This record gives sequence, structure tokens and C-alpha cells, in this order.
Amino acid sequence: MASEAVARSIKAELFERFGEDFAVDPELAGLDGLEKIAGHRSHRRYLSRPVEPDLLRLLCACALSAPSKSDLQQCDIVVVGDMAVRKAIVATIPDMPWIMDAPVFLVFAANGARLPFMCKMHDKPFPNDHLDQFFNAAVDAGIVLATFLRAAAAVGLGCCPISAIRDQAQTVSDLLNMPPRVIPVAGLTVGWPAEAGEITPRLSLSTTVVENTYGSAKAADEIAAYDRRRAASRPYRRQRNAGRWGEVPFYGWSEDKARQYAEPTRMDFGSFVRRKGFCVD
Ligand SMILES: Cc1cc2nc3c(=O)[nH]c(=O)nc-3n(C[C@H](O)[C@H](O)[C@H](O)COP(=O)(O)O)c2cc1C
Repeated sequence: MASEAVARSIKAELFERFGEDFAVDPELAGLDGLEKIAGHRSHRRYLSRPVEPDLLRLLCACALSAPSKSDLQQCDIVVVGDMAVRKAIVATIPDMPWIMDAPVFLVFAANGARLPFMCKMHDKPFPNDHLDQFFNAAVDAGIVLATFLRAAAAVGLGCCPISAIRDQAQTVSDLLNMPPRVIPVAGLTVGWPAEAGEITPRLSLSTTVVENTYGSAKAADEIAAYDRRRAASRPYRRQRNAGRWGEVPFYGWSEDKARQYAEPTRMDFGSFVRRKGFCVD
């Protein structure tokens, strides 16, 4: 695509996402990469075309080229090629058939085991066993996951992260034979997209980009404005848990998220993390 066309495409994608205009200089280097990022969408339907092992290996290498806190390299990628294991993981999650359908299923793990192991190797104490260690490993895993998404998009693959594997984290950890201090952060389905997918609108930048210090933002107004903008292009097809909360005339994003988080989920995740040997104090 000529650079003017790519610039136009980025503007259109960001308008759809944020409902605002952004200046995009057609002379800017790297517009093609930016276009892929601006046009991000999760893909949950895939062609039966396989993802070649060499390509998967290349994408893992690109993802693991991401920056890492103190160069500690605390993220592992588990390639779940064994369909029996994948089936057992899917069995812990209702209603997400795309995990079975995807040509590739990965699990991004936070590995907090290597660092204390290296301290032992070198006969050193490890006095830093506290929440920050857990946080560092989890953040590293998130960054590697995000970098994998970008790498996959660059070659035309589609992905969907799956945090639902943490619904029964202990079972998934056991199925993947994760050692102490290694926990699943998110799964990822990967494949050649069967459909273009849709851009999901996001909160306005005036809500999520803070200039210097947090002011007295009008959270309710901003969220309500986003609810309306999002409902205009991506209305919800059904109202979550209408049995408990009833049907409301206007059902927006914030109502949906409030309903989602009105139900207890992953209440035992903290105890799972502690059982796995992380200190989170
Ligand atoms: C850490 C993480 C976990 C996610 N877990 C799930 C999941 O379990 N199931 C699912 O269908 N989508 C999951 N998603 C995808 C989100 O639902 C999706 O990113 C969000 O709805 C916005 O849509 P978009 O990615 O197309 O912009 C996850 C995304 C992230 C970043």
C-alpha cells in the first residue's frame, strides 16, 4: 500500500477505536507496522491451515526478544502440542471452543524458579522473595505475550489470549507439570484467521492518557460517553446474567463489566500462587 493509503487506514482504524482524529504523517517510517498495531483485533476463528513449526519457533524467538526486568528472563512459553493435554485444559473452561479449534495453543508462564535456583547455584542468599518477584515474573510474561501478538500479526496470523486457563490454575499447572514457582499467566490460541474480525472501541485517550498528574477526572461522565460511543458501533448481543440483574433499556460496556465482576471468580488464585511457592507479601 502506498504510504498515503496506509496513513489513511491507520486514521480510520484509530477513529473506529477511539472516536477521535489522529494526525498520521504519511512520511513517517514504519507505518506498516503501526497499521498492524492500530488495527489489532483478537481472532477466535481459524482456517484449518497449519502453522509451520519453523514459523512458530521464529515467533517464539521474536516474542522472547522482548525486554525483561533486570534481564531476568522470567517468562517461558509452553507449546501445548499434545491434543490430550489441550483437551484436558479446555475441559476446565466452558464455552471457549476456539481453544480446541486453533492450530496452535500456547501457555505463557511466569517462571519465578530460575532466579532463586541461580542464587543457590552460586551459593548466594535470596532475601528478595516478596511480592515484587512475583510481579516481575508476571509482567515479563505479559510483555512476552504482547510481543508474540505483534509478531504473529506481522506475518498475518491471528491470536486470542486466554486468561480463562487461570479459572482452574492448579489443574492447568498439574497438566503442564509446572514446577514450584512457575504459574500459568495466559494461554494463547494462534492460527490463520478465518475472518477479518472487528476493531473493539477503547476508552478515550482523555480517560487513559494522563498528562503529568492525575486530576479530578469526571470518571462517570467519561465512562458514560464511552458506553454510548461503543454501543453505537458494537452493541452487546445479550445482557449478562439477566436472571439476576434483569434487562435494562441501555446496556453498555460498564454495565457488562460491572455484572461480570459482580460474580466471584478465581477466588482461590492467591492461595494457588502461594501454594506454588511464591511469597506475595
Ligand atoms: C491477558 C488477556 C486475557 C484474555 N483472556 C481471554 C479469554 O480467556 N477468552 C477470550 O475469549 N478472550 C480473552 N482475551 C481477549 C479479550 O477479550 C480482548 O482482548 C478484548 O475483548 C478486546 O478485544 P480485542 O483484543 O479484539 O481488541 C484476553 C485478553 C488478554 C489481554
